[in-house]
Amino acid sequence: MDPKITLHDKTFKLFIPNEEIEKAIDALAERLNADYADATDEDPVVLLCTLNGAIIFAAELLKRVKFPLVLKACKLSSYQGTQSTGYIKTEVPLPAHLEGKRVIIVEDIVDTGNTIVAMKDLLQDASVRDSKVCTLLVKPDVYKKHVKLDYVAMEIPNRFIVGFGLDYDELGRNIKDIYVLDE
Ligand code: IMP
Ligand code: MG
Repeated sequence: MDPKITLHDKTFKLFIPNEEIEKAIDALAERLNADYADATDEDPVVLLCTLNGAIIFAAELLKRVKFPLVLKACKLSSYQGTQSTGYIKTEVPLPAHLEGKRVIIVEDIVDTGNTIVAMKDLLQDASVRDSKVCTLLVKPDVYKKHVKLDYVAMEIPNRFIVGFGLDYDELGRNIKDIYVLDE
């Protein structure tokens, strides 16, 4: 793994190696396996992957969770460059037929929380039975919303990161490790 990488006009340095990320996902998957052991083929859990950032995290979770589930995806976006715009755009709407389902929202990172609040509202409007938030990362210094973050793999300081699915203007998603903006 490179100690430093460049994407567009910015330089990033190594922050969280892949092995550490995978260990945190192992622990999270164990919790999910315990909490959803009662799911059945007739009443599967909906794993709702938020595109595009959570793709790799969702794939790693899928390799580890053992209960019956269906995989769905949707896409809300709020970020441009290295800043949240505060304005949420629906780019891929929620899947149909979520009424009465238990949903796990799979997110890459919770920053201001605008996206997760919007997602929770959409799921409530869709009459789901229950929705939980499962995120790879959270920036606790920034997140001040009241939505409970049920499953969090790792906490990070208020820094801009890329890799493991996360992007800087679409680049960097395919990097195995997580890198932080070198300021
Ligand atoms: P929020 O709505 O401010 O919580 O932002 C959440 C979304 O912004 C995440 O799903 C990411 O797509 C993006 N985001 C937030 N922080 C970062 C970061 O440090 N790097 C890359 N994307 C980020
Ligand atoms: Mg995202």
